[in-house]
Amino acid sequence: MTLPVDPYYLPADNRYNVMAFKYTGRSGLKLPAISLGLWHNFGGVDTLENMRAMLRRAFDLGITHFDLANNYGPPPGSAEENFGRILDKDFRSFRSELIISTKAGYYMWPGPYGEWGSRKYLVASLDQSLKRMGLDYVDIFYHHRPDPDTPLEETMAALDHIVRQGKALYVGISNYNAEQTREAARILRELGTPCLINQVRYSMFDRWVEDALLDAAASEGVGLIFFSPLAQGLLTDRYLDGIPADSRAARPSAFLKEEQITEAYLSKARRLNAIAQNRGQTLAQMALAWVLRHPASTSALIGTSSVKQVENNAATVANLAFAGDELQAIETILSE
Ligand SMILES: NC(=O)c1ccc[n+]([C@@H]2O[C@H](COP(=O)([O-])OP(=O)(O)OC[C@H]3O[C@@H](n4cnc5c(N)ncnc54)[C@H](OP(=O)(O)O)[C@@H]3O)[C@@H](O)[C@H]2O)c1
Repeated sequence: MTLPVDPYYLPADNRYNVMAFKYTGRSGLKLPAISLGLWHNFGGVDTLENMRAMLRRAFDLGITHFDLANNYGPPPGSAEENFGRILDKDFRSFRSELIISTKAGYYMWPGPYGEWGSRKYLVASLDQSLKRMGLDYVDIFYHHRPDPDTPLEETMAALDHIVRQGKALYVGISNYNAEQTREAARILRELGTPCLINQVRYSMFDRWVEDALLDAAASEGVGLIFFSPLAQGLLTDRYLDGIPADSRAARPSAFLKEEQITEAYLSKARRLNAIAQNRGQTLAQMALAWVLRHPASTSALIGTSSVKQVENNAATVANLAFAGDELQAIETILSE
């Protein structure tokens, strides 16, 4: 049950005392080690008071970065609308302390201009996002996924145009592989608008970025923010004693299903949990510290369904270091 939140919000005075911040690639923009995404639990089907409590607690703990996309909900667009409502109630006077991002790339409206990477779609989508959130500008605007059919030059020129219009301060790409990242960075550099960041999936259970992307991002000066670092909850203690009714796996999500909670998974999660406990951390905290161990990493982009999870994840920064034998023990479990 969600308790009603106090109508008056004054952020904690000590909000910048604990969170770690890091420069994003070769830019002057620092992001918190832990960022909060609004993909799940912020839609029209969710409770506004719970969202509001999570965002307040996050900001109190130094999480200055909130990540959205045009299609987050459900229904699509409702996460941005809810975020706009909460901005009105609690955060408008702190706009200069917030890094708000949104994206376009996935299906948003019918017809040939409602998805992918044309200039037509990106400009129209960002205008709609700004309206839903009640903002003049976002801090970061992303192209959400590579488009195999639109020339990359057109998509990148649209991002450059959006920055010159003043509708985004920085631009990024998402789900781009190493080669696509190098190409996007080159085109944007030539246009005079640097590619700030690539947002990609990375966790102990999904390690594709290690092949070539970490090096490509570092050499191009592009930051990396890792989404689903907890593998949507699999890299936490959420499922160790069964499948809670309010969990993502039990809810009607197309992205995490009950069938994924197998004995083989549970055996790995339990052993990883034991290593985390020896480090004095929760499994979630260890999984976040693990993705942040790379020098090329900028931030771990989490989702949460409760204030308690926000608090638990933010406290990761108390222990980000790994001993060699801890990393080896983790490797052994992951490679089995
Ligand atoms: N660019 C892209 O294509 C893309 C794609 C996906 C996501 N994203 C971004 O990444 C963000 C995060 O994605 P995600 O939600 O999949 O991330 P995640 O952090 O891997 O998973 C979040 C889920 O893990 C559980 N959890 C979180 N903290 C916990 C804790 N301390 N203890 C126990 N359980 C915990 C919660 O599950 P329950 O709900 O079951 O409590 C929560 O909803 C999104 O909001 C979005 O901004 C981007």
